[in-house]
Amino acid sequence: MKLTIIGSGYVGLVSAICFAKIGHEVACIDKDENKISSLKKGIIPIYEPGLKEMLAENSANISFTTDLSEALSDSEAVFIAVGTPQGEDGSADLSYVLSAAKEIVENSQEDKVIITKSTVPVGTADKIRDIIKNSASKFDFKVASNPEFLREGSAIQDFMEPDRIVIGVNDKKSDKILSEIYHYFAPEKLVKTDSKTSELIKYAANSFLAAKICFINEMADLCEKTGSNIKELSQAIGLDSRIGDKFLNPGPGFGGSCFPKDIMAILNIAQQNNVNLSLISSTINSNKNRKSEMTKKIAKNFDDNSLENKKVTVLGLAFKANTDDIRYSPAIEIVKNLSKNNAIIKAFDPEALENSKQELKNYQNIIFCNDLYEAISDCDLIVIATEWPEFKKLDFNKIKSITKSRKIVDLRNIFDLEFIEDQGFKYDFIGKKN
Ligand code: UDX
Repeated sequence: MKLTIIGSGYVGLVSAICFAKIGHEVACIDKDENKISSLKKGIIPIYEPGLKEMLAENSANISFTTDLSEALSDSEAVFIAVGTPQGEDGSADLSYVLSAAKEIVENSQEDKVIITKSTVPVGTADKIRDIIKNSASKFDFKVASNPEFLREGSAIQDFMEPDRIVIGVNDKKSDKILSEIYHYFAPEKLVKTDSKTSELIKYAANSFLAAKICFINEMADLCEKTGSNIKELSQAIGLDSRIGDKFLNPGPGFGGSCFPKDIMAILNIAQQNNVNLSLISSTINSNKNRKSEMTKKIAKNFDDNSLENKKVTVLGLAFKANTDDIRYSPAIEIVKNLSKNNAIIKAFDPEALENSKQELKNYQNIIFCNDLYEAISDCDLIVIATEWPEFKKLDFNKIKSITKSRKIVDLRNIFDLEFIEDQGFKYDFIGKKN
C-alpha cells in the first residue's frame, strides 16, 4: 500500500523505514529541507542503531520530499508523526498536528485515512474530524489513532517485534486499512479499540512506566538507609509476573522526549476533566527532585562535602545509552548542577557530545572530551551517568596510570561493588548503604 508519513523525526523516520521494510511504498515528508536532502543521500540525521542500514536496504520503497502534494498523491493512509511539544501549562501543543491535518485535507486529491502516530491528548481525533467537517474538500477522510511504543536505541526492534499494535478506529474503512497496513504481523498482535481509548492508552503506558522507574528509585533510597541490596530487591520483585523484571533498574531519574512530556500532558488532561491523578503528580515530583539528590550524592564523596574546584569526570550525557538524545537528560541536569557548584567537569559521551555542547554552552568549567580516557585523566572523581556499554569495559589499570583518583560514583549501577573494590577503587552507587 502507498503510505504517507508526515514528520521525519525519531518516530516518523523509524516508522517510514520499517513500513518500507514490511513491503509498503512510503513517501516521507518534512518541512526541514536540510533533513530531507540528507535523507535522500541515505544520511540519517539521528543516531538509531541499524536505521542507516535498513534505509539502504529498502531505499527502493521509500522517498523523501518537502512537497506535500507529491507525498500525498495516491496514498490511502497518511500518518501524522510531527512533534507535540510541551506547552507552558504542561499540555501537549497540538498546533503541528492540527496544521498537518488541515494541510492533508487541503492538498489531497483522493479519499484517505488520517492516522495520528504522534502522542496526542484524548480527543485529538475528534478535533481532526472537526477540521474535516469544516473543510471544502469533496473527498472522504476517516481519522484513526495508532500510537507508537518505540524506545530510542531499540526502535527498530520495538517496531518489528512489538508486544502489541494499538489501533483506535471508529469506522470500518479505517479498521480495514490499518489491518492491511499491519498485515505483516500476526493478527493477534493487533489491539483494536476506539480512537479516544487508543490515545489514552499511550499516555497510560508511559505514565505507568515512568511511575515504575520512580518506584524502584525510591526503593533504592530506602535500601541506602536500611542496608538492603537494591539489585537483589529488584530481581526478586521482578520475578513476580504481575510486576515483571523490566524497568526496575534504579538510576538518576528518567529523561527523554516522552516520559517527562507525557506525564505532564496526562496530568493536564486529568485537570481539564477534574480528575486527580495523585500518583502521576507524585511521579513528577519524585523525578524532578532526583537530579539534585544525585548532585548531593556526588558531593558526599568528597571529604569536605563540597564540589568547589573539584575535578569531576562525567561519563555519559545522553538520557540513556544507545542514543544521542539529551532531551530532559538527567546527566545534563547533573552537569549543570556541578557547574553551578563550581566543580570542574570533564564530560564524555560516545554519541551525544555535540548535542551536549549546544545545550551546555552557557555553563562554566565544562571540558568536552572526545576520548573516554582523556576525560578520566587527572580527575578527582568519576561519575557514570549513562549506561553506555563501553563504560562497563573500563581499563582500570589504565585509569590508575592517568589519574590519582580512586573513586567512582555509579548512577546506573553498571558495576558490582566487589569487582570495583578488587580494582582498588571506592565505589558509590544507587542504593548503597550510607
Ligand atoms: C519511552 C517508552 O519506553 C516508549 O515506549 C515510548 O514510545 C517513548 O518513551 P524512551 O523514552 O526512548 O521510550 O526510553 P526508555 O527506554 O523508555 O527510557 C526512558 C527513561 O527511563 C530513560 O531516561 C531511562 O534511562 C530511564 N529508565 C528506563 C530507568 O531509569 N530505569 C529503567 O529500568 C528503564
